Amino acid sequence: MASENFCQIPIPDNRKERCEQLRQKFLNKFGEEPAFFARAPGRVNLIGEHVDYCGYSVLPMAIEQDILMAVSPDDSGKLSFVNVDPNYDDFTGDVMQIRITKDDPQWYKYMLCGVLGVKENFCSLIVQGFKAVVSGTIPPSAGLSSSSALVCCAALAMLQANSWPMSKEKLCEICASCEHYIGTEGGGMDQAISLTASPGKAKHIEFNPLRTTDVQLPKNVAFVVSNSLAQMNKAATPYFNIRVVECRIAAQILAKSRPSLQWREIKRLGEVQSRLGFSLDAMLGLVESTLHKEPYSKAEVCKLLGISPEELAETSLSTNTRDVESFLLYQRATHVYSEAKRVLAFKSVCDSQPPDALEQLGRLMDESHASCRDMYECSHPDLDTLVELCKKNGAQGSRMTGAGWGGCAVSIVHSDRVDTLLAGVREQYYSASSDRAGKVASALFATVPGGGAAYYSV
Ligand code: GLA
Repeated sequence: MASENFCQIPIPDNRKERCEQLRQKFLNKFGEEPAFFARAPGRVNLIGEHVDYCGYSVLPMAIEQDILMAVSPDDSGKLSFVNVDPNYDDFTGDVMQIRITKDDPQWYKYMLCGVLGVKENFCSLIVQGFKAVVSGTIPPSAGLSSSSALVCCAALAMLQANSWPMSKEKLCEICASCEHYIGTEGGGMDQAISLTASPGKAKHIEFNPLRTTDVQLPKNVAFVVSNSLAQMNKAATPYFNIRVVECRIAAQILAKSRPSLQWREIKRLGEVQSRLGFSLDAMLGLVESTLHKEPYSKAEVCKLLGISPEELAETSLSTNTRDVESFLLYQRATHVYSEAKRVLAFKSVCDSQPPDALEQLGRLMDESHASCRDMYECSHPDLDTLVELCKKNGAQGSRMTGAGWGGCAVSIVHSDRVDTLLAGVREQYYSASSDRAGKVASALFATVPGGGAAYYSV
């Protein structure tokens, strides 16, 4: 993973028209030609939901839908962002005075995260800003990672505008941590797949340290993405961070129950496992014997850890979860350890490709959905209905993908049955409702693993 991987390539045929539109818009807006284009794709996570921030591996693939920007450096240090979608306001600011408030997750704030993350890594006194005209085809708040694609693409633009070199690995880490400036405490999956994807391959992504391995999906297998159209912006609600915090507290209480561990050093469920040297099954056993199914009150958590509510806020909570009074720990930890197992099982089926690979992968995806719905409680009734309909129409397995609480389902299907699946779901989920019918064209599609982020020369 070297920085040379991000050298400029000619614009591929399928993006020539969009790049030309961006070039025209850039010329109209700024009275000059762009110097280069930057692109970062969205992703669909095949399996491994809500485990990356607990230290566990995930298995996503990049999709065709992306963020594409026409860019030119600005030596006055100004940042000028224009979105081709008129629903999004223009932004101007100064690269030396970036402030990202956590109140209102506007589109340009994700760009500022990427710019700031990169800038903080170089102690340079001379910093170029840049002008950008931005086009996005990833549906927002749909679980396909439109926000991380914006962060990654802006980070790439900032690097290139300043001619700063950086390895892909480093950039993945920076993009994952700088997205926290917006307030959500995500893991590193979305940024890693957007920046490192290779066409035709899904990726097994491990963290701490980051490692990515190509995964060859079985030949007869296809994936269909369907958007429930229930929207969830994870930065606009506390749901996502509440799960992060529940996992952190579960890890700390599990650690506190073991005399060999210092619970204050523990932030993730994965750390408890690695320090104990247990298998994932043994961790599931530890959850059974240590945590109860009823909700934990804040007072009970404080008592178990032997600390005050103020200390709990310090060791375990985040700004938008300070007022949460009750935590489900058994359910969240059970989801995480069992989902971590499913990722490894999914990868091993792809590696060995047994005759019933499709059935096995489908079963793992179904189990993942059930666990997200029942144990992690991050699905949505519309998403559950959609998953059922996908199964009824020929999907071998189907599950919510991404953060959840709305957004998309991903289904695995035999390649011969893609059209039947698309037709059935179109009729039964989308045509059945006048609200949904008009949106089906961008909401329902078959997808293959796409390529990762790139620069295009003008
Ligand atoms: C969001 C986060 C990711 C991951 C998923 C859930 O997309 O950005 O890091 O946690 O949710 O799997």
